Amino acid sequence: MAMTMSSGVTTVHLEVDRILSLFHLSKEQLHTVMCRLREEMERGLSRDTYEEAPVRMLPTFIRSLPAGRVNGSFLALDLGGTNFRVLRVKFGSPCEGVNHVASETYRIPNELMQASGQQLFDYIVDCIAGFLSNQSIKEPLPLGFTFSFPYKQIGLDQGILLNWTKGFNIPDCVGKDVVQLLREAIQRRQELDLEVVVIINDTVGTLMSCAYEDPNCEVGLIVGTGTNICYMEQMRNIDKLDGNDGVMCINTEWGAFGESVKRPLMDIVNEFDKLTDEQSQHPGKQIFEKMISGLLLGRLVQNILLNLKEKGAIFSGIEQHRLDLHGLFETKYLSLIESDTGDLLHVKSILEKFNLSCRTEDCRLVQKVCEAVTRRAAQLCAAGLATVLEKMREARQQDHMMMTIGVEGSLYSLHPQFSRILEDTVKDLAPKCEVNFRHSKDGSGWGAALAAAMTGAKYHGNTEIF
Ligand code: BGC
Repeated sequence: MAMTMSSGVTTVHLEVDRILSLFHLSKEQLHTVMCRLREEMERGLSRDTYEEAPVRMLPTFIRSLPAGRVNGSFLALDLGGTNFRVLRVKFGSPCEGVNHVASETYRIPNELMQASGQQLFDYIVDCIAGFLSNQSIKEPLPLGFTFSFPYKQIGLDQGILLNWTKGFNIPDCVGKDVVQLLREAIQRRQELDLEVVVIINDTVGTLMSCAYEDPNCEVGLIVGTGTNICYMEQMRNIDKLDGNDGVMCINTEWGAFGESVKRPLMDIVNEFDKLTDEQSQHPGKQIFEKMISGLLLGRLVQNILLNLKEKGAIFSGIEQHRLDLHGLFETKYLSLIESDTGDLLHVKSILEKFNLSCRTEDCRLVQKVCEAVTRRAAQLCAAGLATVLEKMREARQQDHMMMTIGVEGSLYSLHPQFSRILEDTVKDLAPKCEVNFRHSKDGSGWGAALAAAMTGAKYHGNTEIF
């Protein structure tokens, strides 16, 4: 309903400013986020509290990173979002230094994300069979499995699913070993000869693939449909594990930050975040992730625009629009809208999809809303990254730390502003860390092939990798 006071224009403008300011974060607020995330990370590492801690800090049992020393051909399966990929990776000898990758991407139909484990894994195995046939691969190749959900690693090739995130919700898989589910699907399709040798998270794949080329890389970050980070932690800081020597890669699962009863993100979660969360697949879960990653940023923008329309601040006079149909405003529109600097043609064509007006002032306001949502997402991601970096710097007792961050994900690589805001904010929040971002293309996938290569013949019965 439009506001009808005589000072209506001013009131509407004030309301627009109020809404945009909900997405503004001061440096002080970002520091608070850092402190609270740090506390949650410590809870996830501690023997006494880890079982209840939402930021799970999952040990991966990976104790060292590759340094350009693998050989041979491997398959990789990368499952984690709306698409999954199958890859064949051929590592050359160290002197050749050439890696050859062939890959195919498959879309996971929405209904399979809510189906049964058997239906999902049968579909995946069908696609792998198609890939092998298209690529004329006849010899049995070891397969590395990138599985981008929270799971408990209990061996190189065993991962117990803790819960689904993003658009997936297949209850009969939770608590089961997903490698076993994949193997059973392979067996059901009798003619396939595939050996699953390792399972890793996508952050770990990204870290592996970047570390392979840059030994200074000890952090793997994903900002795509979901978000997460892994890093090399000192064993002596992993209270919940025995042993004090060396390092181990920890999959933080930071997307769940904000879930704990203390509600550590309560001061910055606003009315639009709450609404978007309620409409989501997993309400009350993955609070940090929902404010940062691609899964719901479009939906967040959509909710703000609907509210502004209701208040008469935008699209006035248009009744027959399509903005309120569920799930239409895709996150990729944010990228297109924000890259439109001049004639606003992208903004106009996107708004036309929703039967919405192309008035210049409306287009500019849509842009402002997208910019506010993106900026906050990138700043929160930076606060998270700065927390991890500062923790690593402290552990090394260094005044100044140099670190390469392996990064992957559509928001980082495709959005016109996200990476710049992320990088600038990290510099600001962690000034004693000199960071170098390394964009890993397909790394989460071929990192699994790398992990498979590194396990070599040792994988049977081993609980520690490398
Ligand atoms: C999952 C993580 C994953 C991240 C990025 C999150 O929803 O819980 O395991 O690394 O998405 O794909």
